[in-house]
Amino acid sequence: MRQTLVMGNWKLNGSKAMVSELIGALKAPAAAHPTVSVAICPPVLFLDQAQQLLADSAIALGAQDADLHSSGAFTGENSAVMYQEFGVRYVLVGHSERRTLHQEDDATVAAKFAAIQAANLVPVLCIGETLAQFEANETQAVVERQLAAVIESNGINALAKAVIAYEPVWAIGTGKTATPEIAQTVHSQIRQFLAKQDADIAAKVQILYGGSVNGASAAGLFAMADIDGALVGGAALKADEFAAIISAGA
Ligand code: 13P
Repeated sequence: MRQTLVMGNWKLNGSKAMVSELIGALKAPAAAHPTVSVAICPPVLFLDQAQQLLADSAIALGAQDADLHSSGAFTGENSAVMYQEFGVRYVLVGHSERRTLHQEDDATVAAKFAAIQAANLVPVLCIGETLAQFEANETQAVVERQLAAVIESNGINALAKAVIAYEPVWAIGTGKTATPEIAQTVHSQIRQFLAKQDADIAAKVQILYGGSVNGASAAGLFAMADIDGALVGGAALKADEFAAIISAGA
């Protein structure tokens, strides 16, 4: 049985006051639903503060990206090895905003995935198609290509210690959630693709859905057989909405 994982991606949002207020408001709903794993990914500047605020909580910490190097002359970057000192468990990799706005290709995503695992952290591999690809019926081909790039360089066993997040680009920040049926179809295709290489890993890997998830849409998504949780953007910045998503996963 796969555990439901509800993860908040705060993106480029936050302030010291907001981190303290939001974490303060999320501790009780997370503690009230111990069967649901909860994680938040604040901007790296707030990891230290978040780690301290979460000391007495089961809410896990995540980061939104990591450089493919552990240290060196890479101005502006942060590494997975550094995250170890802040109690970080998860690191997003290949988010569509990184792929599009920072020109990260499949090879870069695969190398970052390896760097995250080398630091004993859990990569959350984000995959998903654009609106044009969705309309051209290319969704399955796109997500399989994105998965294959990681498997070819890291091996199928690497997926045993990773999380996958299916995030259709057309659903991110648009208010257009994929229907539970559309999302389930893709999640099932992802699991079947992995099963061709390793049935056990395919059955165990958590596959999250992301794209305009909110308190109202979460339960319908979580009811689907292959949807194991959510990667939440905008609604993760509102304590009551995020709490509603956590409770929908229980
Ligand atoms: P929204 O929930 O704001 O659509 O963002 C989804 C996302 O990109 C999470 O990584």
